Amino acid sequence: MAEKVNRRSFLKTGGIMTAGTFISGGVQVHAMAGQQEEPAKPMAANDHLQIALIGAGGRGQSDTKTAAQVPGVKVRAVADCYDGRLTHAKELWGADIQTTRDYAEILARKDIDAVIIGTPDHWHMRAAIDAMNAGKDVYLEKPMIHLYSDGPKIIETAQRTRRILQVGSQRVSSMIYRKAKDLLASGAIGKLNMVTAWWDRNSSIGAWNYSVPLDASTTTCDWPRFLGTAPKISWNPEHFFQWRKWKAYGSGEAGDLFVHLFSGTHFVAGVNGPTHAMATGGLRFWNDGRDVPDVLLGLFDYPEGFNLSLRVNFVDGGAESEGLVFTGSEGTMTISGDSVSLSRVPREKEPGYLINSFARNMQKECLAAYRKKYPIAPPTGDIPLGEEKYVALEGYNDTYDHLKNFFDAVRARRPVVEDPVFGFRAAGAALLSNLSYDRKAVVRWDPEKMKVLG
Ligand SMILES: NC(=O)c1ccc[n+]([C@@H]2O[C@H](COP(=O)([O-])OP(=O)(O)OC[C@H]3O[C@@H](n4cnc5c(N)ncnc54)[C@H](O)[C@@H]3O)[C@@H](O)[C@H]2O)c1
Repeated sequence: MAEKVNRRSFLKTGGIMTAGTFISGGVQVHAMAGQQEEPAKPMAANDHLQIALIGAGGRGQSDTKTAAQVPGVKVRAVADCYDGRLTHAKELWGADIQTTRDYAEILARKDIDAVIIGTPDHWHMRAAIDAMNAGKDVYLEKPMIHLYSDGPKIIETAQRTRRILQVGSQRVSSMIYRKAKDLLASGAIGKLNMVTAWWDRNSSIGAWNYSVPLDASTTTCDWPRFLGTAPKISWNPEHFFQWRKWKAYGSGEAGDLFVHLFSGTHFVAGVNGPTHAMATGGLRFWNDGRDVPDVLLGLFDYPEGFNLSLRVNFVDGGAESEGLVFTGSEGTMTISGDSVSLSRVPREKEPGYLINSFARNMQKECLAAYRKKYPIAPPTGDIPLGEEKYVALEGYNDTYDHLKNFFDAVRARRPVVEDPVFGFRAAGAALLSNLSYDRKAVVRWDPEKMKVLG
């Protein structure tokens, strides 16, 4: 979703779409304005929050740029293992910010209220726990865990230290997902029986082959610190900059992308997780030394009576796409990009007939008997609109709403939308796919107690 924050509505900028409802091509379209379109409220100086970033790569920088646009938030320090990213942090947020390779120096500062953690997955638990023990509130990128044992430790630390921790699956704060949740709860598609979600990519960057800077070396990169608890191997710039390709640091397609689809499904359907999971797939194309599949399919049973089917394909030779379809007894609801659409086809009022293989006389008799029972009735009333669509205005940024939810919670000491329990349930469910893929077997999960059952 777009990262640009646009405070003014399209009406004011003279653009194409303004908030409101209109009919387009037989579809009723509702255009919705986001929080960032509202004028910023002035913030008292003693309400300002000072933040730091730990892990200043692509996502950490993007989160922090967005955080800096939330009124009353100031970026004060950045920690990272690659010097080039520390240099860029000063270019982005000013020469006076503190930069360091060692995040402990930042956590020791009393004036830092909260941290954003954008490290690779294998550092999530350690960095989050160190930050909370140092008294900081935490915005922790997804997936919350790398190993199942990380989950209870993060939850326990948040409870013990009374720190606020928001997990960074930003769709949970998206107004589009909120609308989808309300529509489902209002019965718009009847009883949910299936969710189908996918993420198909057709690019090298999409398959995690991120650029390695020309100055990458053990002088510019803190390799031992990057490795942390991962197996000690000699310097490898691809492992450093393309870490998603190895299980030692990342969590495969499941931890990277299924987790977003789980967070979205759990939020919209108001559920805690599946009881059974089965995954399959393979390494079909990107045979570049990675140890995780580039095609992954997962099937999940929910105790609420629906199935979830997930797919990530990094070798899709067609157009890239991503979406979630919620199928119910009365319609379907599709989330795609910054919109949610409803499609409802009313069930036929009569059962219909299938008689053309019978002898002609029998066809006639059957038709006469059918029409006696179901006489042709003239259509009454308006033809109902089959499709309805809710769209966010261009420039909508769900990460802004997610960070705003976090900073509001930090100020008011109130719960966030995506706490560590929600985060563990989403990431724990996602990682079932890796377990099932490795074991070639169905795995069971207790979504209430958040435990793998075998
Ligand atoms: N919410 C989203 O939509 C979204 C999108 C992309 C990435 N992410 C998540 O964000 C995280 C980072 O992904 P990325 O693409 O930005 O990776 P990246 O490789 O671009 O950045 C990670 C950075 O962490 C640094 N780092 C590693 N160990 C560290 C340590 N001990 N202390 C400080 N810094 C350390 C690295 O030097 C690197 O610069 C991942 O967990 C990923 O899943 C979330």
